[in-house]
Amino acid sequence: MDKLITIDGPGGSGKGTVAKILAAKLGWNILDSGALYRLIALISENIKKTDPDSIGKELKDKSIFFELVKDQYHLFFDGKDVTNFIRREEIGVKASDLAHNQNIRNLIKDTQRSFYDPNIGLIADGRDMGSVVFPEAGIKIYLDASIEERAKRRQIQLKEKGMEVNMRNLISSLEDRDLKDKNRDVSPLLIPKGAKVIDSTNLSIDEVVNKIMDLI
Ligand code: DC
Repeated sequence: MDKLITIDGPGGSGKGTVAKILAAKLGWNILDSGALYRLIALISENIKKTDPDSIGKELKDKSIFFELVKDQYHLFFDGKDVTNFIRREEIGVKASDLAHNQNIRNLIKDTQRSFYDPNIGLIADGRDMGSVVFPEAGIKIYLDASIEERAKRRQIQLKEKGMEVNMRNLISSLEDRDLKDKNRDVSPLLIPKGAKVIDSTNLSIDEVVNKIMDLI
């Protein structure tokens, strides 16, 4: 697939920020697949059910799209901006739990693939974009960074949204999530075949973006 870049990696590695800048530079769309798992977690919390059938019913025929709001991509579900709800740390943990379920993953695979329009182009970020959802992507990136650096970035992101979090809690929550994401049986977080690995610990966002632009 031309005009398709996948960026996989652990939480806080900079995938979202890099995807946003690349999308603006190239004029392509973005798919923040983590936001979709978080949406599922939010729905599950609202209906107090975790089974794929009940969640599937809630998703059926509802619109899901990303839109730039004041320079940040927001997720709209059924016409409502759900961004602030899905960004909560507990929703991230719940999303990670639900993401273990193969039926949940199947539920949104077609939705994820429908974000790709060959005439526009797509930057898809997540954990299994290059390995499972878009194995035919032209360029695959695996973005990583140290746990301390990732926690620091998450803390800044959450602070900007008015949420205070304790650094030690954040590190342990990220570690817990890394462990679950990497060791699950279905679509574990791994370096996809053919992916370029970029460690962003000591790199600026621009340096990461330039490395990817060089590959295009
Ligand atoms: O990137 P994030 O923190 O918003 O993702 C939330 C959770 O969703 C993450 O812990 C694992 C899961 N996820 C996944 O399993 N597959 C993806 N492609 C994206 C996210």
